[in-house]
Amino acid sequence: MNANQWIRQFHRWTSIVFTLTVVATFIALAQEKPIVWISYIPLLPLALLVLTGLYLFALPYLNKRRSARPGAGE
Ligand code: HEM
Repeated sequence: MNANQWIRQFHRWTSIVFTLTVVATFIALAQEKPIVWISYIPLLPLALLVLTGLYLFALPYLNKRRSARPGAGE
């Protein structure tokens, strides 16, 4: 598995972790005495998703630049 595939898989599975932490937040805040600290947990996977997501977004443009270099793809 190359680095780009690894980052795509990481983004994929982090999105599941993020979704679960959001569900946990809904449950925690619906309590009679809301457990507010749990609502901060999604910020960690979300930060990882932003970083890896922006990387995935940039990939096609980076690849185009690379293959436009003289001598590339020969
Ligand atoms: C927060 C900023 C995020 C950014 C900038 C971002 C960006 C991206 C980009 C650019 C791709 C690749 C699309 C492609 O060219 O195929 C992608 C794929 C994906 N994103 Fe995100 N994303 C973000 C957050 C999320 C979140 C919150 C979720 C779900 C909870 C999510 C789930 C996914 C999944 C499942 C894929 C497909 C991965 C695969 O190909 O296996 N992303 N995202």
